[in-house]
Amino acid sequence: MDVETTDVEVSIRVDGTAHRVTVDIRTTLLDALRERLGNTSPKKGCDHGQCGACTILLDGRRVNSCLALAVAYDGAEIVTAAGLGSDGELHPMQRCFIQHDAFQCGYCTPGQIVSAVAMLREAEAGWPSAVTPDGDGGDGGDGGDGDGGGADGRSRMILDADEIRERMSGNLCRCAAYANIVPAIQELARR
Ligand code: FES
Ligand code: FES
Repeated sequence: MDVETTDVEVSIRVDGTAHRVTVDIRTTLLDALRERLGNTSPKKGCDHGQCGACTILLDGRRVNSCLALAVAYDGAEIVTAAGLGSDGELHPMQRCFIQHDAFQCGYCTPGQIVSAVAMLREAEAGWPSAVTPDGDGGDGGDGGDGDGGGADGRSRMILDADEIRERMSGNLCRCAAYANIVPAIQELARR
């Protein structure tokens, strides 16, 4: 009887380093990163897309890596919390988390920070959230011809506490120790 191989080779860049890795077609990006490449920055909390501990930037957008099959992302650019900084310096979001004592446990914090970096980009791009009032942001809803607006027609998203909580709602902490994350993100959003 022929035994079909289910292994495939994928090329991915992780935190600036190119890798070719052979994975079973059922391997998630999270397992490829952790088990095959030894990158333990993204954590396996629930393994079901419910906690956000495994959040990575995948071609610039945040995803739950436990729900992404590695075989589908040949050629992808991945950034984990460990690769957010550059030139030996922490990412500004990491510094804001330190400044506001927003670091939580090692399990949820990497995902929280990656998600926070991505949500600022999403807000900057004018993507509305479920709590964005009509007129904030630009690209969603009514076409974005609301108040104000920059040269590209987008108004500046108001990142109040409700917006930040909503946009970070995919990143859970089992201990509910969220209090300092919102001001940490607001600090960077103001700059
Ligand atoms: S481990 Fe991926 S969302 Fe929980
Ligand atoms: S502090 Fe990380 S899960 Fe609560």
